[in-house]
Amino acid sequence: MPNAVPSSPHIPVMLPQVLQALSPLEGGVFIDATFGAGGYTGAMLDAGAQVVAIDRDPDAIAAGAALVAIHEGRLTLQHGRFSNLDVLAKASGFDAVDGVVADIGVSSMQIDQAERGFSFQKEGPLDMRMEQSGVSAADVVNSLQRSDLTRIIGILGEERQASRISAEIVEQRAKAPFETTKQLAACVEKVLSRKPKDRIHPATRTFQALRIFVNRELEELADALLAAERILKPGGRLVIVTFHSLEDRLVKRFFKDRAEQSGGSRHLPEAQNAPLTFQQVKRGALAASREESEQNPRSRSAKLRAAVRTDAPVGSDDRSVFGLPRLADVVSAGRPA
Ligand SMILES: C[S@@+](CC[C@H](N)C(=O)[O-])C[C@H]1O[C@@H](n2cnc3c(N)ncnc32)[C@H](O)[C@@H]1O
Repeated sequence: MPNAVPSSPHIPVMLPQVLQALSPLEGGVFIDATFGAGGYTGAMLDAGAQVVAIDRDPDAIAAGAALVAIHEGRLTLQHGRFSNLDVLAKASGFDAVDGVVADIGVSSMQIDQAERGFSFQKEGPLDMRMEQSGVSAADVVNSLQRSDLTRIIGILGEERQASRISAEIVEQRAKAPFETTKQLAACVEKVLSRKPKDRIHPATRTFQALRIFVNRELEELADALLAAERILKPGGRLVIVTFHSLEDRLVKRFFKDRAEQSGGSRHLPEAQNAPLTFQQVKRGALAASREESEQNPRSRSAKLRAAVRTDAPVGSDDRSVFGLPRLADVVSAGRPA
């Protein structure tokens, strides 16, 4: 059931740079892989594009109905995952598109609604599921082995004290299962006592790890890049905005693999001859302007990477190019039948 609770609007990040990287828009067909509050989609529609917009959150799709009505015939909303973006575009009637944009992560609406369980600052159920179905953060915290929790928090949260945190979680859940965000935040805070010089709350990294794990965010991003390669026309643009190093590293590795001539290796000499499927618009990532960073703190960690599809046939679908963390065995353990 979609939530009807209103929350603060999401401010689109790096919008001018996104539009510039996607351009020209008029008359073209574009996929907004992360519809959210429709900030990018609205701007693309205003520029004359036809848009297929995707979101895995049923609330975002429900709230987008008004925009569909305004732009009759030029906007199709699809509830689904962006790992599937080529299939969703085809279901909307487009076999090839001029651009794909993705603004990775959670929206302000998701963070602001306590009942979604994304924020350690608000008391709510320990949920964190963008899709509002499947395994929740509470399921993960209450059911996984300690060693798996350590790996998740250590790898996906880049938390050096992961082992101590998982030990405390296991001790506390033996007394009573975790149910709320604040219970988990207090547990982490007990291990990592807060120091006055700390810029971020001690639970930030643990919450990030659980969110990424629950939503399989890194696997989703890797598969979205492969799907974009399949659906983009020659000359089509791929624009990705990320917010932390694990995501950006993945995009960087994909572009390096697809847009830079490699020498191959003794074991994989054919890599040398793999045709390049993308050309990078600019080597390296763009950041938000100082002005935007001051106005919208969320934009401070944003990194934008863009590339243009060549006419080479799609590359290998081997996910090893992404260097994804080895958590596949934990993922299956975290998904009870
Ligand atoms: C940062 S917000 C996008 C905001 C949007 N650019 C705007 O200007 O309003 C990210 C959105 O992507 C959605 N999302 C995240 N991962 C997704 C996935 N794998 N598939 C589809 N949607 C996803 C989230 O539900 C969220 O609504």
